[in-house]
Amino acid sequence: MSATKKEYKRVTVKSLVDMKKNGEKISMLTAYDYSMAKIVDAANVDVILVGDSASNVMAGHETTLPITLDQMIYHASSVIRAVNRALVVVDIPFGSYQSDPKEALRSAIRIMKESGAHAVKVEGGQEIKESVKRILNAGIPVMGHLGLTPQSIYKFGTYNVRAKEEDEAHKLIEDAKLLEKMGCFAIVLEKIPAKLAKEVAESVSIPIIGIGAGNGVDGQVLVIHDLLGITQEFNPRFLRRYLNLFEEMGNAISKYVDDVKTRDFPSDEEQY
Ligand code: KIV
Repeated sequence: MSATKKEYKRVTVKSLVDMKKNGEKISMLTAYDYSMAKIVDAANVDVILVGDSASNVMAGHETTLPITLDQMIYHASSVIRAVNRALVVVDIPFGSYQSDPKEALRSAIRIMKESGAHAVKVEGGQEIKESVKRILNAGIPVMGHLGLTPQSIYKFGTYNVRAKEEDEAHKLIEDAKLLEKMGCFAIVLEKIPAKLAKEVAESVSIPIIGIGAGNGVDGQVLVIHDLLGITQEFNPRFLRRYLNLFEEMGNAISKYVDDVKTRDFPSDEEQY
């Protein structure tokens, strides 16, 4: 289907469903702070995800598990202050929605009320169905996340491609249909075979946004630090780096250090 690009002054959950209908691919990137979110929004990215990957790239943790609800709200409110156009979706962090639907709703309400976010994202299908229902019943838009779900990393044991086996692939399709039926507005599919991801995208009417899920889905998401080459050690096959900012920023900073040491900075023009 050809991409008919319509202008969206503000992207809403409804715009995303329209984009899928019109065959326009959805762009999504993470951001966790005001300055980066301003750049991402000005570049017309459709969806900004305040991902719990902040735990890795902002705080240096090995997994997404340690980040707290308060920390997610801090990141989300910084992003919201920068954004004029994109839909801002915030991850509900590990431990804030799995145990009890009432707690899930309280967490989602805190995110919406205290940060001004537009929607929340949760990981899982059937297992978290009651929590998803509660949140949706309160009028809060929910994005699902299936496939490799980093909050369950200790259950999986590795970050390898998921759903290669028939059983897991079947469960994933059923979970996607369940999330759609309950009223989720979109689903992220992470690190699964492209053929399966395409099949999921064709079996539901809500947008499927992939990361390491091939080209047959309705949109793509990446972690901004990976795309810009700020992170160096993370090199999965699905990642396209558009810059090597680690090197470029390092060079600029080294030049500054030299200029200070050699008394070149500040010059006469750079002082009062
Ligand atoms: O937290 C995150 O950045 C994510 C994306 C990888 C989809 O969930």
